[in-house]
Amino acid sequence: MVDQPIVQVRDLCKTFPVKHAGGVSTLHALSGVNFDIKRGETLGLVGESGSGKTTAGRILVGLIPATSGTVNLFGHNITGVDAKAQLAAVRSRLQFVFQDPYASLNPRMRVGTAIAEPLDIAGTYSRKDRNDRVAELLELVGLPRNSIERYPHEFSGGQRQRIVIARALALNPEFVVCDEPVSALDVSMQAQIVNLLLDLQDRLGLSYLFIAHDLAVVRAVSTRIAVMYAGAIVETAPKTQIYSSPQHPYSKALLDAVPRADPAYVRAPVVAGEVPSLLAMRLRHGAMPAGGNSAEMLRLRSPRGLPFVW
Ligand SMILES: Nc1ncnc2c1ncn2[C@@H]1O[C@H](COP(=O)(O)OP(=O)(O)OP(=O)(O)O)[C@@H](O)[C@H]1O
Ligand SMILES: [Mg+2]
Repeated sequence: MVDQPIVQVRDLCKTFPVKHAGGVSTLHALSGVNFDIKRGETLGLVGESGSGKTTAGRILVGLIPATSGTVNLFGHNITGVDAKAQLAAVRSRLQFVFQDPYASLNPRMRVGTAIAEPLDIAGTYSRKDRNDRVAELLELVGLPRNSIERYPHEFSGGQRQRIVIARALALNPEFVVCDEPVSALDVSMQAQIVNLLLDLQDRLGLSYLFIAHDLAVVRAVSTRIAVMYAGAIVETAPKTQIYSSPQHPYSKALLDAVPRADPAYVRAPVVAGEVPSLLAMRLRHGAMPAGGNSAEMLRLRSPRGLPFVW
C-alpha cells in the first residue's frame, strides 16, 4: 500500500481551559482539523500566530492529547481507547524539531552527549555503536566531528539547529514535525537549514509536517500546503495551486503579506479587525466563507498578537 498516508488526521479538536477574572472559559485551539501526509511528502502548515499550528504538531507526536477526533500514524490510532500503547508502538518513528535551537539544547551538556541522549534513553546501543552513530549523525547534518566535545554556546544559531536536527534523527524517525525550525535564524542561515532538511528528506525518505508563518520558506519545502485560520484548516492544495490561485480569502490575504519584488503588483486591501475569538466561537472545516464579501467576516488580527475578546 504505497500510497496509503502515513499520517491521517480526522476532525481533530483541542480545547484548553482558560482562567480569567470571570471564571474559566473554553478555548477552541483546534476545531475539526483534517489532513493526510504521505510517505516522503512535506505538508506545509501555515497560519498566523495563535491559529493552532503548534497545538496540531504537539498532538501529532503525542506530546499532548487530543480532545476529540482521530490521529492515525502508520496505521496506529494514537487517539483511541488504547492511545498509550498505540503511541508507544510508533514513538521511535516520530520526532519533533522546535523553533528555538537555544531553548531546545541544554547549555551545560556537550554536543556529543546531547545528540546521543535519545540513544542512551533507548538503552540498546553498545558504547561503540553509540559513538559511531553520533559521528555518523554529525556528518549527516554537516558538522565537524570535534563538535562532540564542545558546548552549544560555541556554535552559531544555524549550527545549533543542525545539532537539534542530528539529535532528532538519532533513532531513525520516518516522520518529523518541524515547528518553525528556521524562524529564529537570519535569512542566509534559513536557506542552509531548509536545504539540509530537503537533502535529509531525499537521503532518508523522511516525511515532514513543516509549520511556519513565512510563506517563502513553506514554498521552498512543501509538497502541499494547508492554510490554518483560527483553529481550522481553510484550504489545502498543492503548493503551486495555493500560490497561483488561492481559493480562500484568508489564503489570499496571507499571500499578500509576502513582500514582492514586482512594483506593478497591486495588493489586495488589508482586512482590518481581529481574528474571531477562539473562546466565543467554534469554527468548523468548511464552515468558513469561501469567497465574495467574506473578507469582512474573516478579519485578520491587526496589529498582531492582541489577546482574545471575552
Ligand atoms: N497549554 C495551553 N493552555 C491554554 N491555551 C493554549 C495552550 N496552548 C496553546 N494555547 C492557545 O491555543 C491557541 C493556538 O496556539 P498555538 O500555539 O497552537 O498557535 P500557533 O499557530 O502555533 O501560533 P504561533 O505562530 O504563535 O506559534 C492560542 O490561542 C494559544 O494561546
Ligand atoms: Mg506555534
